[in-house]
Amino acid sequence: MLGSCVVRMLAAGAKRGIVATCAIAFGKAATRSCDNPLKVTRLLVRHLAQLATPGGLEAPLRGRALGEIEVIEDAFVLCREGTIEAVGRMRDLPLLDDDVEEVDGRGRCAIPGLVDCHTHACFAGDRVDEFALRAAGATYEELHAAGAGILSTVRATRAAGEAALREAVERHAGWMRAHGTTTFEAKSGYGLDRETELAQLRAIAAAGGIPTWLGAHAVPPEFESADDYLDFALAEVLPAAARIAEAADVFLERGAFDVQQARRYLEACAAAGLALRLHGDQFTESGAVPLAIELGARSVDHLEATGPDGVEALAASDVVGVLLPASALFLDRPMPPARALVDAGAAVALGTDFNPGSAFCESLPIVCSLACTQLHLSPAEALAAFTVNAAHVLGRAGRKGRLAPGYDADIVLLDAPDWRHLAYHLGGNVVSGWVLGGAVP
Ligand code: NIG
Ligand code: FE
Repeated sequence: MLGSCVVRMLAAGAKRGIVATCAIAFGKAATRSCDNPLKVTRLLVRHLAQLATPGGLEAPLRGRALGEIEVIEDAFVLCREGTIEAVGRMRDLPLLDDDVEEVDGRGRCAIPGLVDCHTHACFAGDRVDEFALRAAGATYEELHAAGAGILSTVRATRAAGEAALREAVERHAGWMRAHGTTTFEAKSGYGLDRETELAQLRAIAAAGGIPTWLGAHAVPPEFESADDYLDFALAEVLPAAARIAEAADVFLERGAFDVQQARRYLEACAAAGLALRLHGDQFTESGAVPLAIELGARSVDHLEATGPDGVEALAASDVVGVLLPASALFLDRPMPPARALVDAGAAVALGTDFNPGSAFCESLPIVCSLACTQLHLSPAEALAAFTVNAAHVLGRAGRKGRLAPGYDADIVLLDAPDWRHLAYHLGGNVVSGWVLGGAVP
């Protein structure tokens, strides 16, 4: 399934002269098969069947604008030093008199590198036994209440050590990248002690992820109550976590943290300079949406249990609703009210929720399929939701999520004649190449 392309390195001044030709295999071991003898600062992806990108400059996109994807046929993307310099139709490509590395895009489509704004990619061990128990009828909440679930991953993660955690995030990031994710967020929350929470955040940052401190994920067994645990986490972990993480997150849910505890945690995190996010309305509608709006959170994520009032409130706010259909599917739960949110004018993003318990799924293309078949979004709305809107959730609007001049040159190539195969191909991997920071990795 892996494609290949031909790279031509043009000598300075030799506008169309081929100096060297080499094949680059795209896929798992995507290493260059020849050394580039020239110092290449520009990269041209040419003759693309299509280039598809969210249009305009705004973020987040909402309402009709969410579905307004720009599609250019027979297209090129030109990158310079890690940034997109120009996109357009081949017939409008200017003559290039610089050293340019070329990638043949024939038969392929280019879309922005995908942005996964919600993962728990830093964990040790697995929960395949729990998966089998759920297949036999146990529920996620029952397992959680019995000390399995999240707490079983906490035990494995505490025992792993920082080097193993770093290896785990790198491995998981490789899986995500194989499916087109070029920017990812990952949360802590499987340490719940000072040492492991900070080790998780460092491992995420070292692997190139954007770290979120999920210090309020569950109450670890050494604490009598959620309030006692929060006393410890806010006094002992927050000051150091705030120096590594960009955002804080809380699991506001029956059996985890209630509204009062979530408010206390998030207010302290905001005072320490962190952006705010919430896991809310996953199983019960527990007040996460009004709290997210009151505190000016970047996002409230899950929303499977959100009713009409929550939809209306989110639509009137600047808080992004992050939809995680892989998690709803994996747990056999209702899907979030995505169509109602978009139609009401709410800003929505999509993520995988990749984690060992509720969504062992690293693939945004599968999420894209689910967004179309289960959430009733169009392929265009889904693409905007996990590019430009996800970048906004991560504080990277203006840099990530669009193929437009000035944006980071993170590009995904699809081995398909129409970019919508990203959604159409359920479970297949149409991702066949990447440009990361203006270079072919
Ligand atoms: O987003 N529900 C809370 N946290 C994660 C699951 C974590 C786990 O089960 O390990 C979620 O679904
Ligand atoms: Fe999550």
